[in-house]
Amino acid sequence: MSDELNATLNFPPGFLWGTATAAHQVEGGNHNSWTAWENLGGGRVYGDHVSGAACDWWNGRAEQDFDRAASLNNNALRLSVEWSRIEPEPGRWDPDALDRYRQMILALRARGLAPMVTLHHFTNPLWLEERGGWLDDETPERFGRYAARVADVLGEHVDLWCTINEPVVYSTVSYLQGKWPPGQADFGQVMALFGQLARGHAAAYHAIKAIRPAAQVGLAKHQISFRPGTPLLGHGGVWLLHRLFNETFFGPMTHGWLKFPFQRAVPIPQARDTLDWVGLQYYNRYTVCFKPSQPKMLLFDTCARPDVPHGPGEWGELAPEESLPRIRHLYKLVRCPVYVTEMGVPDSDDSIRPGYLARTLRAVWKACMHSYPVKGFFHWSLVDNFEWAEGYDPRYRFGLFGVDFATQARTERRSARLYRAVCAANALSAAIVREHAPEALAETFPAPRAQF
Ligand code: FCB
Repeated sequence: MSDELNATLNFPPGFLWGTATAAHQVEGGNHNSWTAWENLGGGRVYGDHVSGAACDWWNGRAEQDFDRAASLNNNALRLSVEWSRIEPEPGRWDPDALDRYRQMILALRARGLAPMVTLHHFTNPLWLEERGGWLDDETPERFGRYAARVADVLGEHVDLWCTINEPVVYSTVSYLQGKWPPGQADFGQVMALFGQLARGHAAAYHAIKAIRPAAQVGLAKHQISFRPGTPLLGHGGVWLLHRLFNETFFGPMTHGWLKFPFQRAVPIPQARDTLDWVGLQYYNRYTVCFKPSQPKMLLFDTCARPDVPHGPGEWGELAPEESLPRIRHLYKLVRCPVYVTEMGVPDSDDSIRPGYLARTLRAVWKACMHSYPVKGFFHWSLVDNFEWAEGYDPRYRFGLFGVDFATQARTERRSARLYRAVCAANALSAAIVREHAPEALAETFPAPRAQF
C-alpha cells in the first residue's frame, strides 16, 4: 500500500471536537414564539407538526445524550439556553430554569465536555414577540440584561459564549421569506433587524465580559457559497447575495458601521471589536439566476443545479469542499479565531453523511494547514431533532444518532463511528475513512499521481 493511502491528517493540539444543538429543537415543552407559530397550523410547519417533547432533554434525557457525546470522544458540546424559560415575564427570572441549565452544564463538565453556550437560537419569549420582537427599540438592551443574568449563574463553568445564532438567516427567513415567525415579508424590516441584532450582540458581549473578562464571546454565522447560474445577471446576483448574506452583518463588528449596498451607513460603534471568535456554519452552495418573479428573494432565484448532488427541497447543493473557501473568506473578513459551529447534512438513512463529513474534515484540516486559526468543529447535530419549518419531516434528519420520536429510542449511525474515531485520533486518517466511509476514500485521500 502506498504511503499516501496510509496518510493521516492531524488537527492542531487542543482542537475542540463536539456537536451542536439548540434548545427549542431538543428540549421539549417550550413556550415561545416558535410554539405559538407551530400551533397556528395551516402548513406553517411540515405536516402541521409541533415540537412537543422533541428529544425530551428538559426532563432528563439531555444527560443520556451527553453520555453519547462523551462516547464519541468529544471534548466540547454546543447547546443553547432558552430566553423564554429564563425570563418568563419581563424582568422576572426563573431560578428553577437557571438551575436546570446549571445542572446540564455541570453534567457536561463532568463528562469532559467544554460547553459552548448560545443565548439566542431563533426563538423569542412570547412577551417579547408581542412587543415587536427584535424590532422593538428596547430589545437589544433587554438581551444584554438576559445575557448578564445567564453569565452570572453559569459563567463560572462556561468559557465559550455564542450570543446569536445565524442573525441573517433569522432576519431573512422570518422577515423576508415569511416562513418563520412572525411571518413577515418586508426587506425594510430585515435591514432594521440587522442593526438591532448587531446592537443585541454588542450588549450581550459587553455584559458577559463585565462579569467574566476571560470569557470568549462570539457569534455563529451561516455562510453560503454562491455561484452564477447565468452569465451576466447571475454574476450580479452572486455579488449582491454574497454581500448581503455573507458580509454586511459583520460591518458593525469590524468597523462600527452597518452599510447595506446602495444605502447610507448606520453607526453602531458599540459593536466594534466585539468578536473574540467567529462561528462558521456552512451547509450549502446555491446557483444564482435572475428571476424577476421572485421579489421575496430580491429578484434572484437560488437553486441547486440538477446535475450536482443536492439536498431535499430547497436545501441547495452539497459541496463539502466549499468549507475551505468559506473559512478563508470569513477569516479575512473578521480576523479572529474561527470555530466551525455547525456543519451537517440532512440524510435520514446516513448514506451520505459519513462521506460528507470526511470530505468536510479534509477541507477544515486544509484550512488549519494554511494557518487559518480554526479552533474547533461542532457537527450539526448530536441527535435528530425538530427542524423548524421542516418539523419532523423524515428527510431532515441530522443526528449522528437517530431518534425514534414515538419511543425516544436512539440509534447510533455509521457517521457516529467515523466521528468517534476521528475525535479519538485528533486526525482524519485513510484507515478511518477506509473503515467508516470507504465511498469517500478517493476524494479524501486521492491516489498519488504518477511521477515522471
Ligand atoms: C442551521 C440552524 C440549526 C439547524 C440546522 C440544520 O441553520 O442553526 O438550528 O436547523 O441549520
